[in-house]
Amino acid sequence: MFANSRPVASRQNAPHPDLQVVLVRHFARPFQKPVSAYNHDAFARAMRAWQAWNARAPLILDAGCGVGWSTARLARARPDCFVMGVDQSAHRLARDKTQWGTLPANLVFIRANLVDFWRLLADAGITLFRHYLLYPNPWPKPAHLLRRWHAHPVFPTILQLGGLLECRSNWKIYVDELAEALRYAGGNPDVQPYIPEGGYLTPFERKYSESGQGLWVIRNQMTGDR
Ligand SMILES: C[S@@+](CC[C@H](N)C(=O)[O-])C[C@H]1O[C@@H](n2cnc3c(N)ncnc32)[C@H](O)[C@@H]1O
Repeated sequence: MFANSRPVASRQNAPHPDLQVVLVRHFARPFQKPVSAYNHDAFARAMRAWQAWNARAPLILDAGCGVGWSTARLARARPDCFVMGVDQSAHRLARDKTQWGTLPANLVFIRANLVDFWRLLADAGITLFRHYLLYPNPWPKPAHLLRRWHAHPVFPTILQLGGLLECRSNWKIYVDELAEALRYAGGNPDVQPYIPEGGYLTPFERKYSESGQGLWVIRNQMTGDR
């Protein structure tokens, strides 16, 4: 496959100037949008799968897992953990997985909207061991700031879930903004260029890397300071 994905184009050449104001607002007011019935059902299914495997196993969330390639890899790498791969796209989740060999049993794929799924996890008092945000949609238009996860009203809930948060992106500004948001919330993020030496974790990672784009990773151990 010839990889010719273009780098993210944006009028922004630095973190968004409104990010701080947005964060102050989100941390001051609880996010109260009702959770839809379909996400309640999806959450219940995810909980049943975790209980059936081993309710005491630490939980890894692959948030926005796409076709689920990373979910399978993470589950294989951590057989002591249970991995939930959550994505809103039924089409992506339905992609044939037989080419990756036998799927490990310590995972479940869930179709849900993360905005609700994250809040259901937090409301249930669940904390994560690891939390992956692999190549989230960058929403590069400045007017779309609030769609980026660190500027979305659900961001405080994402932090509440704890664990080691890892986000990878091909847009440096996305990780720089996430770092700014994490620092605002009392975190201590580490941003590094990412070189996928040990193989690709996701199809987007492969596509961007094989197109010659730079990748970045940000990691932060959540402590629930704010
Ligand atoms: C750019 S793709 C990356 C997919 C995968 N992580 C990868 O690296 O190959 C972003 C994914 O996030 C999912 N997504 C975006 N917003 C979402 C939401 N609110 N709830 C659940 N999934 C969402 C999309 O459906 C899409 O599969």
